[in-house]
Amino acid sequence: MLFIFIVHAMIQLNLVVSLPTASDWNIFNQSLEGRLLRSVPFALPCFSLTDGVKSNHNAPSCMRVINSYLDDEVRTAHAGSYINTQWETCQSKISGCLLDSEQPDNPAAFSNPRVCNQGSIPEHTLPVESASDVVASFNFARDFNIPLVVKNTGHDYKGRSSGNGALSLWMHHLQGIDFEPNFTPAGCPHGDTFPGITFGSGVSFLSLINFAEQHNLTVPTAGDGTVAGGGGYLQGGGHSVLSNAFGLAVDRVVCKSLLFGCNTRLVNSNHPQLQFEVVTPLGQHLFANSCQFQDLFFALRGGGGGTFGVVLGVTTLALPQMEIHVVQANIKADQGSRLVEFMVDHTLEFAQSGWGGFTLPSGLTFVNAILTSAQAKASIASMQKFVTQEIYGNVTFSTEPTYKAYYQKFTTNVPRGTPLTTSSRLVPADIFNSNNQREELTKILNGMIAIGLEPIIFAAPPFLYGDRGGTSVTPSWRTSLLHVTLTDGWNFNTSKSDITTVYRKLSAAMDPLRKLTPGSGAYQNEADVFEPNYEHSFWGENYNRLRSIKQKYDPDHILDCWQCIGWKGRNDPRYECYPLE
Ligand SMILES: Cc1cc2nc3c(=O)[nH]c(=O)nc-3n(C[C@H](O)[C@H](O)[C@H](O)COP(=O)(O)OP(=O)(O)OC[C@H]3O[C@@H](n4cnc5c(N)ncnc54)[C@H](O)[C@@H]3O)c2cc1C
Ligand SMILES: *[C@@H]1O[C@H](CO)[C@@H](O)[C@H](O)[C@H]1NC(C)=O
Ligand SMILES: *[C@@H]1O[C@H](CO)[C@@H](O)[C@H](O)[C@H]1NC(C)=O
Ligand SMILES: *[C@@H]1O[C@H](CO)[C@@H](O)[C@H](O)[C@H]1NC(C)=O
Ligand SMILES: *[C@@H]1O[C@H](CO)[C@@H](O)[C@H](O)[C@H]1NC(C)=O
Repeated sequence: MLFIFIVHAMIQLNLVVSLPTASDWNIFNQSLEGRLLRSVPFALPCFSLTDGVKSNHNAPSCMRVINSYLDDEVRTAHAGSYINTQWETCQSKISGCLLDSEQPDNPAAFSNPRVCNQGSIPEHTLPVESASDVVASFNFARDFNIPLVVKNTGHDYKGRSSGNGALSLWMHHLQGIDFEPNFTPAGCPHGDTFPGITFGSGVSFLSLINFAEQHNLTVPTAGDGTVAGGGGYLQGGGHSVLSNAFGLAVDRVVCKSLLFGCNTRLVNSNHPQLQFEVVTPLGQHLFANSCQFQDLFFALRGGGGGTFGVVLGVTTLALPQMEIHVVQANIKADQGSRLVEFMVDHTLEFAQSGWGGFTLPSGLTFVNAILTSAQAKASIASMQKFVTQEIYGNVTFSTEPTYKAYYQKFTTNVPRGTPLTTSSRLVPADIFNSNNQREELTKILNGMIAIGLEPIIFAAPPFLYGDRGGTSVTPSWRTSLLHVTLTDGWNFNTSKSDITTVYRKLSAAMDPLRKLTPGSGAYQNEADVFEPNYEHSFWGENYNRLRSIKQKYDPDHILDCWQCIGWKGRNDPRYECYPLE
């Protein structure tokens, strides 16, 4: 009796469960009609020396890797590739398989004696096609006590879509898109319809932009079109140049009824604006919306990706097509601090006129979709005058007929495929009411520039949109005017201690802003890997409710990711490749 009890307890603690053998993987693979992939490092074909990865040394393939090394579209279509490439490597052990991101054809990165390792790339990847694929994978991960990760585009800054030894569920092949002018969410009363775009969670923003254009609709997007519309971006909040006026992706507002002649019944109702198709770790395949599984719906609207279930698809409210007014300024490198000062002083004013965008030390890009062209021009006349007359920069103003036209013209395709990390802070609106605090903020931002960092000062919080309830992002998003980020990177041969130094430097550089904004938060998707007090920072007062929802839908903690709701903590073996704090 006691023996049975002990064995039972050990099974509960997963102590007697051993890793899957080759034959266990084979049986699993066969149960999936042989669709299980062995995912290898993107740069593998360039290396003649490998360790723990089957060599695939091949000159033409290596040439293709070199030519597409910094191409995010190619990377998102590769199972073993990540955009911020340190998450392909084991940072604590300096093992991986990277090329020189400054010069991908530099043979010093891949010739002998450099060795290609699997790093943090999950060896086994299942390209998900159906709910039953996900259920089978949850069961396999539970039975063998192995980590399970959800990988979509691999854009994550915090390594939440990779992990050594994990089984990876790859969402990339869920590519359907459909528009229904009269969509009724599952379980909701008939007649409660709204225009909805339903899409697979692997669909990229580029595809959504094209689809919306064809249907005379608008879908606000991430700055990079290869981010997926229904993955970690959405579940973590999702900001865009339109979020000041139209909300975060988790809000997906109908539209400003007065301006677009939308159905006001929809605008003012608490009715469903979004729906998730989900498979939960307990194996339920369900639709979560405001009529059913409301707790899970709340959690998926800001609680973070990879935590509550695997999202197969999403229905988001379709915005009407709209003109986008764009103002862009380019300034001389040494005038960055003056531009920052001017923009801090005018942050509240521009937000109130509906502008959203970002300021850099080298210039700015802002858009407006709620004013007429003449109103928009007038509302930023002060900025135009300042830039041209006071700091001798250039300003352009244009009105683009659609979001796609704006995106194509103004989004620069910067190289992706380098080790890169970020840090974030939300700056509350009340800071901008005080001369002293504005001055202090300007000083802090310019201090970042002075030490060689380039803050991206996003006017992205849904300030004008406000809070219409139902989401689980930190309420700080709703009362802030800026989301300030810092980024910094390194290269293939940077030492372990130098990598640690970069993480520390970035975190320390954000500290003065943390001090200026006590009680505020950060954007979980673009935050410091070592965000202090992350529970409060990412979710604020929503944290406790999110924890209990996690407990309900994933009691065995099959899903676990770095600083995610209910995570096992950095001492769990699955985090052994994370850098030192
Ligand atoms: C170049 C670049 C530009 C960016 N621009 C913006 C921006 O403008 N605005 C903004 O808000 N953010 C932006 N981001 C941050 C972005 O929101 C995050 O990188 C986000 O994690 C990407 O989600 P993903 O699903 O595409 O990536 P992945 O790395 O594949 O996944 C991210 C996380 O979501 C989970 N996940 C993914 N898909 C699912 C699913 N179907 N079900 C459950 N969990 C899932 C993963 O497990 C992981 O935890 C940008 C990032 C980069 C690298
Ligand atoms: C799964 O089976 C298929 C077909 O037999 C095979 O090609 C593939 O390599 C297997 N996957 C793994 C990870 O072994
Ligand atoms: C989009 O609008 C144009 C111009 O008004 C119209 O000709 C076209 O039929 C519309 N397309 C759809 C799919 O509604
Ligand atoms: C502004 O435009 C002019 C003419 O195109 C160019 O010569 C100049 O370098 C630009 N200045 C800045 C700061 O970009
Ligand atoms: C990394 O490699 C580059 C290019 O080969 C070289 O110039 C640099 O000195 C190396 N850095 C370190 C830290 O080894």
